[in-house]
Amino acid sequence: MRFSLLLLLILGFLFPNPIPSDPGLKDHFKNDFFIGAAVNMRQVNGTEKGADSLLLLHFNSITSENGLKWGPVQPKAGEYRFDFGDAFVEMGERMDAYIVGHTLVWHQQTPDWVFQDGEGKFLDRENLIHRMENHISTLVGRYKGRIHAWDVVNEAFEDNGNWRKTHWYNLIGEDFIERAFRKANEIDPKAELIYNNYNVWKPEKRKAILEMAKRLKAKGVRIDGIGMQGHYRLNSPSLDQIEQAILDIHEAGFEVHVTELDVDVLPRPTDVEGADLSINFAESAEWNPFKDGISPQVEKDLVTRYSSLFALFKKHGDKIARVTFWGLHDGSSWLNNWPVRGRTNYPLLFDREKRLKKGFIED
Ligand code: GLA
Repeated sequence: MRFSLLLLLILGFLFPNPIPSDPGLKDHFKNDFFIGAAVNMRQVNGTEKGADSLLLLHFNSITSENGLKWGPVQPKAGEYRFDFGDAFVEMGERMDAYIVGHTLVWHQQTPDWVFQDGEGKFLDRENLIHRMENHISTLVGRYKGRIHAWDVVNEAFEDNGNWRKTHWYNLIGEDFIERAFRKANEIDPKAELIYNNYNVWKPEKRKAILEMAKRLKAKGVRIDGIGMQGHYRLNSPSLDQIEQAILDIHEAGFEVHVTELDVDVLPRPTDVEGADLSINFAESAEWNPFKDGISPQVEKDLVTRYSSLFALFKKHGDKIARVTFWGLHDGSSWLNNWPVRGRTNYPLLFDREKRLKKGFIED
């Protein structure tokens, strides 16, 4: 009796909100793949009301949305900030989740100093490799055994399959990818190591990614999975294009991770696809048609799109390890600000009140 009271008190302390017991998305897909969400600081440290019960009920995986990128983690040389990372991993452990760190090597959200010497000149190859390896050792080392997967390299290719000419590529050369994966593996041999990109459904891009990954694998470099970000629109890409990507990644010998799923329902000023953050247009009423609420038809189209995407993912559940939404609910999606700033978008399965949109997985 006294023991159960004590247990209740401990549980109440650990989970200030009642422990959710309804079946959530994660239960619905428990035989298929993990269901994840990218999260921010307010969602992992308890500041955003209702975020933790939503996470506990529906998700069994989380990804750091921005908090573990180079900029926030090491804004100045040797000055590391782990407040987000620590809160993020603690939240993931409370959820008993598959915890994904995003991302170690990327050309965006990486401060200029990383590529420069004390006089502002570009670093030479050896010094940049050293800096990259130190960053990886420090970050992966801190969360060794607790972060279960890392997006080691993000977005190294252009849509046409060419190498993206980033500072990493220009200053180190193609083998920056190999160096990054080798170092991550050395520091945490048990963490899953992922190469991540958008528009993997485009055949030329996918070909370049898979050739790179197979070449490295043949040299003994461990790459476990290929992340297809999944920044989609209502009608593009087609299910066939996505299915072909799943099949090709699997055939090449890698796990499929759907790493950043969302479905943009708003019009685009250009036919840009994917997630190139360098593109941005100013806000204007013309591009913000659902400012006061989404039309019932478009909401229906969105839910239908999600239902068919998940039917496809379920069909390939043996090849897909995880499906992660890029954001927890519509209110916290980056698509409210890209490619046009300050819009009201509805790209996720949970609305601004954190309710699951009607019609999804209703039998
Ligand atoms: C890319 C990156 C993510 C995020 C999204 C949009 O897909 O991988 O970290 O920045 O763009 O926000």
